[in-house]
Amino acid sequence: MAMTSLKINGKVYETDVDPQTPLLWYLREHADLVGTKYGCGIAQCGACTVHMNGNPIRSCIMPISSVANAEITTIEGLSENGDHPVQQAWDELDVPQCGYCQAGQMMTAAALLKENKKPSEEEIETAMSPHICRCGTYHRIKKAVKLAGE
Ligand code: FES
Repeated sequence: MAMTSLKINGKVYETDVDPQTPLLWYLREHADLVGTKYGCGIAQCGACTVHMNGNPIRSCIMPISSVANAEITTIEGLSENGDHPVQQAWDELDVPQCGYCQAGQMMTAAALLKENKKPSEEEIETAMSPHICRCGTYHRIKKAVKLAGE
């Protein structure tokens, strides 16, 4: 079996699982990183969002072979102690309801704020609109992204 080398949250993983395995399943079932969630499996909801070299990607459709040697960051690796500004803002404004989609939401928010410290309402809406939240926490998400950028 071919080996795939993955770098996740700064740690190297060598694996012989099928290179076509979606990154999401590798994270959850092999790397024990279960903060990243499965929502739709077809790149439509955003629950599975992680960073590849700092950019948000949908891990449900990304075979591990295509992310080999890239820097993958999951919600577990976003900060040392859960104190990334985005995580603090989410906490302060009590953003989650059921919480299921929120790791993905925060990963996209963190990527946006890295590029643009003070996004406008419109820029926040554009960046966050590919994410679906069944509980409808969109308003609080928008406020939290703003707060995290302050
Ligand atoms: Fe990947 Fe929905 S689970 S976008």
